[in-house]
Amino acid sequence: MILVTGGAGFIGANFVLDWLALNGEPVVNLDKLTYAGNLESLASLQGDARHIFVQGDIGDSALVAGLLATHRPRAVVHFAAESHVDRSIHGAEDFIQTNIVGTFRLLEAVRGHWGALPEPERTGFRFLHVSTDEVYGSLAPDAPAFTETHGFEPNSPYSASKAASDHLVRAWHHTHGLPVVTTNCSNNYGPYHFPEKLIPLMIVNALAGKPLPVYGDGMQVRDWLYVKDHCSAIRRVLQDGRLGETYNVGGWNEQPNIEIVRIICGLLDELRPRADGASYAQQITYVKDRPGHDRRYAIDARKLERELGWKPAETFATGIRKTVQWYLDHPEWVENVQSGNYRQWVQAQYGTPGAA
Ligand code: NAD
Ligand code: TYD
Repeated sequence: MILVTGGAGFIGANFVLDWLALNGEPVVNLDKLTYAGNLESLASLQGDARHIFVQGDIGDSALVAGLLATHRPRAVVHFAAESHVDRSIHGAEDFIQTNIVGTFRLLEAVRGHWGALPEPERTGFRFLHVSTDEVYGSLAPDAPAFTETHGFEPNSPYSASKAASDHLVRAWHHTHGLPVVTTNCSNNYGPYHFPEKLIPLMIVNALAGKPLPVYGDGMQVRDWLYVKDHCSAIRRVLQDGRLGETYNVGGWNEQPNIEIVRIICGLLDELRPRADGASYAQQITYVKDRPGHDRRYAIDARKLERELGWKPAETFATGIRKTVQWYLDHPEWVENVQSGNYRQWVQAQYGTPGAA
């Protein structure tokens, strides 16, 4: 049994689905169900006794301690976070509360549990912290990609809060001996991605005939990784990662935003042509830039490859085609996210809100 936090979010839901499909080991899924938590993404697990969903906050120490005592997981995989940079610019309170205070309380609850475990459970226990490349800051155009030894230079309230959480995890290892591993991953894309982030927003807006808002000059570079490759990296690090180490996870796919948007438009032109025969690229609209917008991220994932033999299975070409096709095949998921109906979905499916 493992405990996953934030397993109703984009990456967490993909992780839980893949974990149960590949491994079968039960999962306790602790998620607060903020606007970003969507149990509809886990609808295929309804009635599956291996998935125990608990609606709650990682900062609720008593709840977390109770879950650890009851289920005795052999590992905690920590995804739960506020994750959207633009939201963190409008208001950082929730980011500080969940990403920093929440991670601190989770670490303390896990430390209390782990410290009392008998052997061999104590030695085998793992806390895997899921983090981002954004903690490293922004790269100059010709600078080498981020390695694990790159200094922390976060520029947004989001990345600053994630950097703080990474430091806490590190300190709980060095000071208290907690058996932790951390992953720092580049931008993910794929199924169940909330359409406030670049790739799903562009797909959804294009299909709705809306403008495709590209910030600034569109030449900011991100290093995109298909979400299922991120999940496979996490499984690999959980199994064999060295304690106290961090592992960068990336797709070796740097692209300027405008190129990503053009690729999406090209795929939609092929798979779901516009009624008027024009390209979706006509909907591209340059808008005001994001304040403090990081210019370039790029991940050097060679440590993970060298030490643990991990490599992404998808190229960007294969991953983005699957992603666009997934959004075309799941209009109801998109519709429910956009209308807010995914929040009622819990009640409709389960009777009581949050009790799955
Ligand atoms: P997301 O915003 O889609 O999901 C976050 C989930 O956490 C939601 O289900 C939400 O309900 C839950 N949550 C939020 N606050 C909570 C709290 N206090 N207690 C319990 N649950 C809470 O995020 P995501 O894109 O799936 O990212 C997951 C993790 O991966 C985050 O830690 C993020 O920093 C990291 N990450 C994301 C990316 C990316 O490209 N999306 C890249 C690298 C790392
Ligand atoms: P995003 O998906 O928000 O991820 P992050 O900021 O964590 O990298 O944005 C990816 C890139 O796309 C980033 O450079 C900002 C840009 N962007 C746009 O140009 N337009 C948009 O509407 C959004 C949401 C993002």
